[in-house]
Amino acid sequence: MILVLNFGAQYGHLIARRVRDFGVYSEVVPCDVSIQKIKRLNPAGIILSGGPTSVYEPNHPTMDRKILDLEIPILGICYGQQLIGKFVGANVLGGKLKEYGKRILNVKKQGKLLKGLFKREQIWMSHGDLVENLPKDFDILASTDSCRVASFENNNKKLYGIQFHAEVVHTLKGNQILKNFVFGICKAKKDWHIKDISKKLIQELKKEVGKNSVIMGVSGGVDSTVAAALLHKAIGERIYCVFIDHGLIRKGEAEEVRAFFEKKSKFKHFHFVDASKIFLKRLKGVTDPEQKRKIIGHTFIDVFEDKVAELEKKHPAIKFLGQGTIYPDRIESAQPSKHASKIKSHHNLTLPEKMKLKVVEPLKEFYKDEVRKLGKELKISDEILKRHPFPGPGLAIRVLGEITDEKLRILREADYIFIQELKKSKFYDKTWQALAALLPVKSVGVMGDNRTYEYIITLRAVTSIDAMTADWAKLPNELLERISNRIINEVSGVNRVLYDVTQKPPGTIEYE
Ligand code: XMP
Repeated sequence: MILVLNFGAQYGHLIARRVRDFGVYSEVVPCDVSIQKIKRLNPAGIILSGGPTSVYEPNHPTMDRKILDLEIPILGICYGQQLIGKFVGANVLGGKLKEYGKRILNVKKQGKLLKGLFKREQIWMSHGDLVENLPKDFDILASTDSCRVASFENNNKKLYGIQFHAEVVHTLKGNQILKNFVFGICKAKKDWHIKDISKKLIQELKKEVGKNSVIMGVSGGVDSTVAAALLHKAIGERIYCVFIDHGLIRKGEAEEVRAFFEKKSKFKHFHFVDASKIFLKRLKGVTDPEQKRKIIGHTFIDVFEDKVAELEKKHPAIKFLGQGTIYPDRIESAQPSKHASKIKSHHNLTLPEKMKLKVVEPLKEFYKDEVRKLGKELKISDEILKRHPFPGPGLAIRVLGEITDEKLRILREADYIFIQELKKSKFYDKTWQALAALLPVKSVGVMGDNRTYEYIITLRAVTSIDAMTADWAKLPNELLERISNRIINEVSGVNRVLYDVTQKPPGTIEYE
Protein backbone atom coordinates (compact mmCIF):
# COMPACT_ATOMS: atom_id res chain seq x y z
CA MET A 1 0.00 0.00 0.00
CA ILE A 2 0.92 3.63 -0.42
CA LEU A 3 0.33 5.78 2.63
CA VAL A 4 -0.62 9.43 2.20
CA LEU A 5 0.22 11.72 5.10
CA ASN A 6 -2.20 14.60 5.10
CA PHE A 7 -0.93 18.03 6.03
CA GLY A 8 -4.31 19.68 5.46
CA ALA A 9 -4.21 19.67 1.69
CA GLN A 10 -7.11 20.62 -0.50
CA TYR A 11 -6.25 17.79 -2.88
CA GLY A 12 -4.81 15.30 -0.36
CA HIS A 13 -7.54 12.79 -0.76
CA LEU A 14 -7.23 12.92 -4.51
CA ILE A 15 -3.70 11.52 -4.26
CA ALA A 16 -4.92 8.32 -2.59
CA ARG A 17 -7.74 8.09 -5.06
CA ARG A 18 -5.35 8.32 -8.03
CA VAL A 19 -3.15 5.59 -6.56
CA ARG A 20 -6.15 3.34 -5.98
CA ASP A 21 -7.13 3.93 -9.60
CA PHE A 22 -3.76 2.40 -10.55
CA GLY A 23 -4.78 -0.77 -8.70
CA VAL A 24 -2.67 -0.13 -5.60
CA TYR A 25 -4.28 0.33 -2.20
CA SER A 26 -3.79 3.75 -0.68
CA GLU A 27 -4.99 5.32 2.51
CA VAL A 28 -4.85 8.83 3.93
CA VAL A 29 -3.70 9.28 7.53
CA PRO A 30 -3.13 12.44 9.58
CA CYS A 31 0.44 13.76 9.33
CA ASP A 32 1.15 13.12 13.02
CA VAL A 33 0.72 9.36 12.56
CA SER A 34 3.06 7.40 14.84
CA ILE A 35 6.14 5.66 13.49
CA GLN A 36 4.84 2.42 15.07
CA LYS A 37 1.67 2.63 13.04
CA ILE A 38 3.65 3.19 9.87
CA LYS A 39 5.81 0.15 10.64
CA ARG A 40 2.68 -1.88 11.26
CA LEU A 41 1.07 -0.79 7.99
CA ASN A 42 4.35 -1.47 6.19
CA PRO A 43 3.66 0.73 3.16
CA ALA A 44 5.64 0.37 -0.07
CA GLY A 45 5.85 4.15 -0.20
CA ILE A 46 4.74 7.32 1.55
CA ILE A 47 3.41 10.48 -0.05
CA LEU A 48 3.42 13.73 1.89
CA SER A 49 0.53 15.91 0.77
CA GLY A 50 0.42 19.64 0.26
CA GLY A 51 -1.00 21.90 2.92
CA PRO A 52 -2.30 25.43 3.39
CA THR A 53 0.38 26.52 5.85
CA SER A 54 4.01 27.49 5.59
CA VAL A 55 6.83 25.54 7.24
CA TYR A 56 7.71 28.92 8.77
CA GLU A 57 4.53 29.26 10.75
CA PRO A 58 5.06 28.58 14.47
CA ASN A 59 2.69 25.62 14.76
CA HIS A 60 2.98 24.28 11.24
CA PRO A 61 1.84 20.67 10.79
CA THR A 62 4.74 18.29 10.81
CA MET A 63 5.58 14.60 11.09
CA ASP A 64 8.01 12.44 13.00
CA ARG A 65 11.42 13.21 11.45
CA LYS A 66 12.48 9.58 11.98
CA ILE A 67 10.06 8.48 9.24
CA LEU A 68 12.71 9.69 6.81
CA ASP A 69 15.10 7.04 8.11
CA LEU A 70 12.76 4.09 7.60
CA GLU A 71 14.15 3.55 4.09
CA ILE A 72 10.65 3.68 2.70
CA PRO A 73 10.54 5.86 -0.45
CA ILE A 74 8.93 9.22 0.31
CA LEU A 75 7.47 11.65 -2.20
CA GLY A 76 6.72 15.15 -0.97
CA ILE A 77 4.18 17.17 -2.91
CA CYS A 78 4.26 20.97 -2.50
CA TYR A 79 4.24 21.50 1.30
CA GLY A 80 5.47 17.89 1.53
CA GLN A 81 8.50 18.78 -0.60
CA GLN A 82 9.19 21.85 1.55
CA LEU A 83 9.02 19.76 4.70
CA ILE A 84 11.52 17.24 3.33
CA GLY A 85 13.68 20.21 2.30
CA LYS A 86 13.55 21.61 5.82
CA PHE A 87 14.39 18.22 7.36
CA VAL A 88 17.45 17.70 5.15
CA GLY A 89 18.78 21.18 5.81
CA ALA A 90 17.72 23.07 2.66
CA ASN A 91 16.56 26.66 2.73
CA VAL A 92 12.87 27.12 2.34
CA LEU A 93 12.15 30.57 0.99
CA GLY A 94 8.99 32.09 2.38
CA GLY A 95 6.10 33.68 0.71
CA LYS A 96 7.46 36.19 -1.82
CA LEU A 97 7.07 34.25 -5.03
CA LYS A 98 3.57 32.94 -4.91
CA GLU A 99 2.61 30.85 -7.93
CA TYR A 100 -0.88 29.68 -8.70
CA GLY A 101 -2.23 27.98 -11.80
CA LYS A 102 -0.84 26.47 -14.98
CA ARG A 103 2.90 26.73 -15.47
CA ILE A 104 5.53 25.25 -17.75
CA LEU A 105 7.91 22.79 -16.17
CA ASN A 106 11.41 22.66 -17.66
CA VAL A 107 12.71 19.14 -17.17
CA LYS A 108 16.51 19.09 -16.91
CA LYS A 109 16.93 15.49 -15.93
CA GLN A 110 14.28 12.78 -15.89
CA GLY A 111 15.76 10.71 -13.06
CA LYS A 112 13.42 8.03 -11.83
CA LEU A 113 10.62 10.36 -10.84
CA LEU A 114 10.13 12.26 -14.08
CA LYS A 115 10.80 9.33 -16.39
CA GLY A 116 8.95 9.66 -19.68
CA LEU A 117 8.40 13.43 -19.41
CA PHE A 118 9.35 15.80 -22.23
CA LYS A 119 11.62 18.80 -21.77
CA ARG A 120 8.62 21.07 -21.35
CA GLU A 121 5.44 19.96 -19.61
CA GLN A 122 2.32 21.69 -18.36
CA ILE A 123 1.93 21.53 -14.60
CA TRP A 124 -0.30 23.02 -11.90
CA MET A 125 1.30 25.10 -9.19
CA SER A 126 -0.26 26.35 -6.01
CA HIS A 127 2.24 27.43 -3.42
CA GLY A 128 3.80 30.27 -1.49
CA ASP A 129 7.12 28.86 -0.27
CA LEU A 130 10.00 27.37 -2.23
CA VAL A 131 12.88 25.00 -1.55
CA GLU A 132 16.37 26.38 -2.23
CA ASN A 133 19.93 25.11 -1.77
CA LEU A 134 19.37 21.43 -1.32
CA PRO A 135 22.38 19.42 -0.09
CA LYS A 136 24.72 18.28 -2.89
CA ASP A 137 23.59 14.66 -2.99
CA PHE A 138 20.13 15.76 -4.14
CA ASP A 139 19.50 15.95 -7.88
CA ILE A 140 17.42 18.86 -9.09
CA LEU A 141 15.26 17.43 -11.86
CA ALA A 142 13.20 20.38 -13.04
CA SER A 143 12.39 24.03 -12.58
CA THR A 144 9.91 26.69 -13.66
CA ASP A 145 10.55 30.36 -14.42
CA SER A 146 10.16 31.31 -10.80
CA CYS A 147 10.94 28.08 -9.00
CA ARG A 148 14.42 26.63 -9.27
CA VAL A 149 13.67 23.38 -7.45
CA ALA A 150 10.38 22.27 -8.95
CA SER A 151 11.38 18.62 -8.48
CA PHE A 152 14.23 16.71 -6.85
CA GLU A 153 15.31 13.20 -6.06
CA ASN A 154 17.83 11.43 -3.91
CA ASN A 155 17.83 7.74 -4.73
CA ASN A 156 20.17 6.78 -1.88
CA LYS A 157 17.99 8.38 0.72
CA LYS A 158 14.86 7.46 -1.25
CA LEU A 159 13.55 11.00 -1.01
CA TYR A 160 11.63 12.65 -3.85
CA GLY A 161 9.85 15.94 -4.23
CA ILE A 162 7.67 17.95 -6.54
CA GLN A 163 6.68 21.53 -5.92
CA PHE A 164 3.60 21.22 -8.15
CA HIS A 165 0.48 19.10 -7.84
CA ALA A 166 0.69 15.82 -9.75
CA GLU A 167 -2.73 14.73 -8.51
CA VAL A 168 -4.79 17.38 -10.35
CA VAL A 169 -5.76 16.98 -13.99
CA HIS A 170 -4.10 20.24 -15.05
CA THR A 171 -0.71 18.62 -14.52
CA LEU A 172 -0.96 16.72 -17.76
CA LYS A 173 1.62 14.05 -16.91
CA GLY A 174 0.60 13.91 -13.25
CA ASN A 175 -0.44 10.29 -13.42
CA GLN A 176 2.84 9.38 -15.12
CA ILE A 177 4.81 10.96 -12.26
CA LEU A 178 2.71 9.23 -9.61
CA LYS A 179 3.06 5.93 -11.47
CA ASN A 180 6.84 6.42 -11.67
CA PHE A 181 6.84 6.78 -7.91
CA VAL A 182 4.38 4.01 -7.10
CA PHE A 183 5.64 1.36 -9.53
CA GLY A 184 9.13 2.47 -10.64
CA ILE A 185 10.43 3.61 -7.27
CA CYS A 186 8.27 1.86 -4.64
CA LYS A 187 7.83 -1.32 -6.71
CA ALA A 188 4.23 -1.56 -5.53
CA LYS A 189 2.12 -4.32 -7.04
CA LYS A 190 -1.20 -3.92 -8.77
CA ASP A 191 -3.25 -6.07 -6.47
CA TRP A 192 -6.00 -3.80 -5.33
CA HIS A 193 -9.39 -4.58 -6.77
CA ILE A 194 -12.90 -3.60 -5.90
CA LYS A 195 -13.42 -7.10 -4.52
CA ASP A 196 -10.68 -6.51 -1.98
CA ILE A 197 -12.19 -3.15 -1.07
CA SER A 198 -15.59 -4.59 -0.29
CA LYS A 199 -14.01 -7.45 1.65
CA LYS A 200 -11.90 -5.04 3.68
CA LEU A 201 -14.84 -2.70 4.31
CA ILE A 202 -17.02 -5.59 5.44
CA GLN A 203 -14.29 -6.79 7.81
CA GLU A 204 -13.90 -3.30 9.23
CA LEU A 205 -17.64 -2.87 9.66
CA LYS A 206 -17.84 -6.17 11.53
CA LYS A 207 -15.15 -4.95 13.90
CA GLU A 208 -16.60 -1.48 14.32
CA VAL A 209 -20.18 -2.52 14.99
CA GLY A 210 -19.33 -5.63 17.03
CA LYS A 211 -22.43 -7.31 18.36
CA ASN A 212 -24.50 -4.14 18.18
CA SER A 213 -27.15 -3.23 15.65
CA VAL A 214 -27.38 -0.34 13.19
CA ILE A 215 -30.29 1.82 12.18
CA MET A 216 -30.08 3.55 8.86
CA GLY A 217 -32.18 5.95 6.85
CA VAL A 218 -32.21 4.94 3.20
CA SER A 219 -33.37 7.03 0.26
CA GLY A 220 -33.14 4.63 -2.65
CA GLY A 221 -30.20 6.64 -4.01
CA VAL A 222 -26.80 5.18 -4.87
CA ASP A 223 -24.89 6.09 -1.72
CA SER A 224 -27.32 5.02 0.97
CA THR A 225 -28.17 1.82 -0.91
CA VAL A 226 -24.54 0.76 -1.33
CA ALA A 227 -23.75 1.67 2.29
CA ALA A 228 -26.74 -0.34 3.51
CA ALA A 229 -25.79 -3.30 1.31
CA LEU A 230 -22.27 -3.32 2.78
CA LEU A 231 -23.63 -3.20 6.30
CA HIS A 232 -26.06 -5.95 5.43
CA LYS A 233 -23.20 -8.13 4.27
CA ALA A 234 -21.25 -7.34 7.44
CA ILE A 235 -23.89 -7.71 10.13
CA GLY A 236 -26.78 -9.46 8.39
CA GLU A 237 -30.10 -9.03 10.08
CA ARG A 238 -28.76 -6.55 12.63
CA ILE A 239 -29.32 -3.63 10.25
CA TYR A 240 -32.65 -1.81 10.42
CA CYS A 241 -33.35 0.24 7.31
CA VAL A 242 -35.86 3.05 7.43
CA PHE A 243 -37.31 4.69 4.34
CA ILE A 244 -39.34 7.80 4.98
CA ASP A 245 -41.89 8.57 2.32
CA HIS A 246 -42.44 12.30 2.73
CA GLY A 247 -45.09 12.27 0.03
CA LEU A 248 -42.72 14.12 -2.28
CA ILE A 249 -41.09 11.23 -4.08
CA ARG A 250 -41.34 10.32 -7.75
CA LYS A 251 -43.93 8.05 -9.28
CA GLY A 252 -42.96 4.41 -8.81
CA GLU A 253 -40.08 5.20 -6.45
CA ALA A 254 -41.61 3.69 -3.34
CA GLU A 255 -42.22 0.41 -5.15
CA GLU A 256 -38.66 0.34 -6.55
CA VAL A 257 -37.07 0.93 -3.17
CA ARG A 258 -39.30 -1.69 -1.53
CA ALA A 259 -38.50 -4.21 -4.24
CA PHE A 260 -34.78 -3.75 -3.68
CA PHE A 261 -34.76 -4.00 0.09
CA GLU A 262 -37.49 -6.54 0.63
CA LYS A 263 -37.28 -8.80 -2.39
CA LYS A 264 -33.93 -8.55 -4.13
CA SER A 265 -31.66 -8.03 -1.16
CA LYS A 266 -33.73 -9.71 1.52
CA PHE A 267 -33.11 -7.26 4.31
CA LYS A 268 -34.90 -8.68 7.32
CA HIS A 269 -35.80 -5.30 8.75
CA PHE A 270 -37.00 -2.77 6.24
CA HIS A 271 -39.34 -0.14 7.62
CA PHE A 272 -41.36 1.90 5.20
CA VAL A 273 -42.71 4.96 6.98
CA ASP A 274 -45.53 6.73 5.20
CA ALA A 275 -45.22 10.21 6.66
CA SER A 276 -46.72 12.04 3.70
CA LYS A 277 -49.66 13.40 5.69
CA ILE A 278 -47.56 15.20 8.27
CA PHE A 279 -45.15 16.63 5.67
CA LEU A 280 -47.92 17.88 3.40
CA LYS A 281 -49.84 19.30 6.35
CA ARG A 282 -46.84 21.28 7.54
CA LEU A 283 -46.16 22.50 4.00
CA LYS A 284 -49.71 23.68 3.42
CA GLY A 285 -49.80 27.28 2.24
CA VAL A 286 -46.00 27.65 2.33
CA THR A 287 -44.56 29.29 -0.77
CA ASP A 288 -41.07 30.41 0.25
CA PRO A 289 -38.39 27.95 -0.98
CA GLU A 290 -36.14 28.25 2.07
CA GLN A 291 -39.07 27.82 4.41
CA LYS A 292 -40.12 24.71 2.51
CA ARG A 293 -36.63 23.27 2.81
CA LYS A 294 -36.47 24.02 6.52
CA ILE A 295 -39.88 22.52 7.23
CA ILE A 296 -38.96 19.37 5.33
CA GLY A 297 -35.55 19.11 7.03
CA HIS A 298 -37.03 19.48 10.52
CA THR A 299 -39.98 17.20 9.84
CA PHE A 300 -37.62 14.60 8.47
CA ILE A 301 -35.62 14.67 11.67
CA ASP A 302 -38.80 14.52 13.80
CA VAL A 303 -40.18 11.52 11.93
CA PHE A 304 -36.84 9.74 11.85
CA GLU A 305 -36.24 10.35 15.55
CA ASP A 306 -39.65 8.94 16.40
CA LYS A 307 -38.92 5.82 14.39
CA VAL A 308 -35.47 5.46 15.95
CA ALA A 309 -36.96 5.79 19.44
CA GLU A 310 -39.58 3.16 18.62
CA LEU A 311 -37.02 0.72 17.22
CA GLU A 312 -34.48 1.38 19.99
CA LYS A 313 -37.10 0.44 22.53
CA LYS A 314 -37.80 -2.83 20.78
CA HIS A 315 -34.17 -3.55 19.89
CA PRO A 316 -31.82 -2.20 22.55
CA ALA A 317 -28.79 -3.46 20.61
CA ILE A 318 -29.21 -0.53 18.20
CA LYS A 319 -26.21 1.63 19.00
CA PHE A 320 -25.18 2.89 15.57
CA LEU A 321 -26.61 5.17 12.94
CA GLY A 322 -25.59 4.18 9.42
CA GLN A 323 -24.97 6.96 6.91
CA GLY A 324 -24.30 6.93 3.19
CA THR A 325 -21.90 9.90 3.39
CA ILE A 326 -19.29 9.88 0.65
CA TYR A 327 -16.06 11.83 0.51
CA PRO A 328 -17.31 14.87 -1.46
CA ASP A 329 -20.19 15.32 1.04
CA ARG A 330 -17.60 15.81 3.74
CA ILE A 331 -15.70 18.40 1.76
CA GLU A 332 -18.88 20.33 1.10
CA SER A 333 -20.02 20.27 4.69
CA ALA A 334 -16.58 21.38 5.86
CA GLN A 335 -16.71 24.31 3.49
CA PRO A 336 -20.06 25.94 4.04
CA SER A 337 -18.94 28.79 1.82
CA LYS A 338 -19.28 26.57 -1.23
CA HIS A 339 -21.80 27.89 -3.69
CA ALA A 340 -24.40 25.13 -3.41
CA SER A 341 -24.63 25.09 0.37
CA LYS A 342 -24.79 28.84 0.62
CA ILE A 343 -27.62 29.22 -1.82
CA LYS A 344 -29.88 26.50 -0.41
CA SER A 345 -30.04 24.75 2.91
CA HIS A 346 -29.45 21.05 2.42
CA HIS A 347 -30.61 19.07 5.38
CA ASN A 348 -28.91 15.72 4.79
CA LEU A 349 -25.86 16.22 6.96
CA THR A 350 -27.56 17.65 10.02
CA LEU A 351 -29.27 14.39 10.90
CA PRO A 352 -26.78 12.68 13.21
CA GLU A 353 -26.14 15.77 15.33
CA LYS A 354 -29.41 15.25 17.16
CA MET A 355 -28.99 11.52 17.74
CA LYS A 356 -27.22 9.81 20.59
CA LEU A 357 -26.12 6.98 18.33
CA LYS A 358 -22.59 6.49 17.05
CA VAL A 359 -22.28 7.20 13.37
CA VAL A 360 -20.97 4.55 11.00
CA GLU A 361 -20.14 5.70 7.48
CA PRO A 362 -18.73 2.87 5.33
CA LEU A 363 -18.27 5.04 2.24
CA LYS A 364 -16.81 8.15 3.77
CA GLU A 365 -13.46 7.74 1.98
CA PHE A 366 -14.87 7.12 -1.48
CA TYR A 367 -15.87 9.05 -4.55
CA LYS A 368 -19.13 8.48 -6.42
CA ASP A 369 -17.64 6.42 -9.23
CA GLU A 370 -15.88 4.17 -6.71
CA VAL A 371 -19.17 3.76 -4.87
CA ARG A 372 -20.81 2.71 -8.13
CA LYS A 373 -18.07 0.12 -8.73
CA LEU A 374 -18.54 -1.17 -5.21
CA GLY A 375 -22.28 -1.38 -5.79
CA LYS A 376 -21.70 -3.40 -8.94
CA GLU A 377 -19.50 -5.78 -6.99
CA LEU A 378 -22.33 -6.13 -4.47
CA LYS A 379 -24.66 -6.97 -7.36
CA ILE A 380 -26.84 -3.90 -6.98
CA SER A 381 -28.76 -3.26 -10.20
CA ASP A 382 -27.86 -0.51 -12.67
CA GLU A 383 -31.33 0.85 -12.08
CA ILE A 384 -30.12 2.03 -8.68
CA LEU A 385 -26.44 2.58 -9.43
CA LYS A 386 -27.04 4.82 -12.40
CA ARG A 387 -29.83 6.73 -10.77
CA HIS A 388 -29.72 10.50 -11.12
CA PRO A 389 -29.30 12.47 -7.91
CA PHE A 390 -32.60 13.35 -6.27
CA PRO A 391 -32.75 16.15 -3.70
CA GLY A 392 -33.75 15.48 -0.09
CA PRO A 393 -36.78 17.83 -0.27
CA GLY A 394 -37.94 15.94 -3.36
CA LEU A 395 -40.73 17.27 -5.51
CA ALA A 396 -41.45 20.04 -3.00
CA ILE A 397 -38.75 22.15 -4.63
CA ARG A 398 -40.04 21.30 -8.09
CA VAL A 399 -43.61 22.41 -7.46
CA LEU A 400 -42.82 26.11 -7.42
CA GLY A 401 -44.81 28.04 -4.85
CA GLU A 402 -47.56 26.37 -2.87
CA ILE A 403 -47.75 22.58 -2.92
CA THR A 404 -51.10 20.89 -3.42
CA ASP A 405 -52.08 17.27 -4.06
CA GLU A 406 -53.26 18.18 -7.53
CA LYS A 407 -49.99 19.90 -8.46
CA LEU A 408 -48.01 16.93 -7.12
CA ARG A 409 -50.11 14.57 -9.23
CA ILE A 410 -49.48 16.61 -12.39
CA LEU A 411 -45.76 16.88 -11.72
CA ARG A 412 -45.37 13.18 -10.94
CA GLU A 413 -47.03 12.15 -14.19
CA ALA A 414 -45.08 14.63 -16.31
CA ASP A 415 -41.78 13.72 -14.65
CA TYR A 416 -42.48 10.03 -15.17
CA ILE A 417 -42.98 10.50 -18.90
CA PHE A 418 -39.83 12.62 -19.19
CA ILE A 419 -37.63 10.08 -17.40
CA GLN A 420 -39.22 7.16 -19.23
CA GLU A 421 -38.49 8.74 -22.62
CA LEU A 422 -34.93 9.64 -21.63
CA LYS A 423 -34.31 6.04 -20.63
CA LYS A 424 -35.86 4.70 -23.81
CA SER A 425 -33.72 6.98 -25.97
CA LYS A 426 -30.57 6.21 -23.91
CA PHE A 427 -30.18 9.86 -22.95
CA TYR A 428 -30.75 9.14 -19.26
CA ASP A 429 -27.20 7.84 -18.78
CA LYS A 430 -25.78 10.72 -20.79
CA THR A 431 -27.21 13.35 -18.49
CA TRP A 432 -26.23 14.14 -14.92
CA GLN A 433 -29.77 14.90 -13.90
CA ALA A 434 -33.15 15.43 -15.48
CA LEU A 435 -36.31 16.74 -13.91
CA ALA A 436 -39.68 18.26 -14.55
CA ALA A 437 -40.97 21.20 -12.53
CA LEU A 438 -44.39 22.81 -12.30
CA LEU A 439 -44.58 26.56 -12.62
CA PRO A 440 -47.06 28.38 -10.38
CA VAL A 441 -48.82 30.06 -13.29
CA LYS A 442 -51.35 29.04 -15.90
CA SER A 443 -51.40 29.93 -19.55
CA VAL A 444 -53.99 29.92 -22.31
CA GLY A 445 -53.99 27.26 -24.99
CA VAL A 446 -56.27 25.53 -27.41
CA MET A 447 -57.07 21.83 -27.46
CA GLY A 448 -59.51 20.50 -30.01
CA ASP A 449 -61.76 23.51 -30.52
CA ASN A 450 -61.67 24.59 -26.93
CA ARG A 451 -59.82 27.19 -25.02
CA THR A 452 -57.69 25.78 -22.20
CA TYR A 453 -56.23 27.53 -19.19
CA GLU A 454 -53.76 25.13 -17.59
CA TYR A 455 -50.40 24.76 -15.86
CA ILE A 456 -46.96 24.95 -17.49
CA ILE A 457 -44.39 22.18 -17.08
CA THR A 458 -40.74 23.02 -17.49
CA LEU A 459 -38.21 20.32 -18.24
CA ARG A 460 -34.58 20.56 -17.22
CA ALA A 461 -31.81 18.14 -18.16
CA VAL A 462 -28.19 18.96 -17.40
CA THR A 463 -24.73 17.59 -17.90
CA SER A 464 -22.24 18.08 -15.09
CA ILE A 465 -19.38 16.40 -13.29
CA ASP A 466 -19.96 17.55 -9.76
CA ALA A 467 -23.19 19.61 -9.76
CA MET A 468 -21.19 22.74 -8.91
CA THR A 469 -21.48 23.86 -12.51
CA ALA A 470 -23.79 22.43 -15.14
CA ASP A 471 -24.73 22.86 -18.77
CA TRP A 472 -28.17 22.27 -20.22
CA ALA A 473 -28.27 19.00 -22.12
CA LYS A 474 -28.55 19.30 -25.87
CA LEU A 475 -31.38 16.80 -26.31
CA PRO A 476 -32.57 16.07 -29.86
CA ASN A 477 -35.55 18.13 -31.01
CA GLU A 478 -37.54 15.03 -31.95
CA LEU A 479 -37.12 13.66 -28.45
CA LEU A 480 -38.24 16.93 -26.88
CA GLU A 481 -41.22 17.01 -29.21
CA ARG A 482 -42.22 13.48 -28.29
CA ILE A 483 -41.96 14.23 -24.58
CA SER A 484 -43.93 17.46 -24.93
CA ASN A 485 -46.69 15.76 -26.93
CA ARG A 486 -46.96 12.92 -24.47
CA ILE A 487 -47.12 15.21 -21.45
CA ILE A 488 -49.82 17.40 -22.95
CA ASN A 489 -51.87 14.44 -24.16
CA GLU A 490 -51.47 12.18 -21.15
CA VAL A 491 -51.34 14.55 -18.19
CA SER A 492 -54.52 16.44 -17.52
CA GLY A 493 -53.97 19.95 -16.25
CA VAL A 494 -51.00 20.84 -18.49
CA ASN A 495 -51.20 22.69 -21.79
CA ARG A 496 -47.65 23.92 -22.29
CA VAL A 497 -44.17 22.38 -21.96
CA LEU A 498 -40.92 24.37 -21.84
CA TYR A 499 -37.31 23.22 -22.04
CA ASP A 500 -34.87 25.06 -19.80
CA VAL A 501 -31.71 26.27 -21.57
CA THR A 502 -30.01 27.91 -18.58
CA GLN A 503 -26.52 27.01 -17.46
CA LYS A 504 -25.41 26.79 -13.83
CA PRO A 505 -24.34 29.37 -12.90
CA PRO A 506 -26.43 31.49 -13.19
CA GLY A 507 -29.34 29.03 -12.82
CA THR A 508 -29.13 26.35 -10.16
CA ILE A 509 -30.08 22.80 -11.13
CA GLU A 510 -33.19 22.75 -8.98
CA TYR A 511 -35.75 25.54 -9.27
CA GLU A 512 -36.02 26.35 -5.58
P1 XMP B 1 -28.57 23.07 -7.12
O1 XMP B 1 -30.04 23.24 -7.26
O2 XMP B 1 -28.00 23.74 -5.91
O3 XMP B 1 -28.35 21.52 -6.89
O4 XMP B 1 -27.83 23.43 -8.37
C1 XMP B 1 -27.11 20.87 -6.96
C2 XMP B 1 -27.34 19.41 -6.73
O5 XMP B 1 -27.78 19.18 -5.40
C3 XMP B 1 -29.05 18.57 -5.40
N1 XMP B 1 -29.79 19.16 -4.29
C4 XMP B 1 -29.97 18.54 -3.12
N2 XMP B 1 -29.60 17.33 -2.69
N3 XMP B 1 -30.61 17.73 -0.61
C5 XMP B 1 -29.94 16.92 -1.46
O6 XMP B 1 -29.64 15.79 -1.09
C6 XMP B 1 -31.02 18.97 -0.95
O7 XMP B 1 -31.63 19.68 -0.17
C7 XMP B 1 -30.69 19.39 -2.29
N4 XMP B 1 -30.91 20.54 -2.99
C8 XMP B 1 -30.36 20.36 -4.23
C9 XMP B 1 -29.64 18.86 -6.75
O8 XMP B 1 -30.64 17.92 -7.09
C10 XMP B 1 -28.40 18.80 -7.61
O9 XMP B 1 -28.04 17.47 -7.90
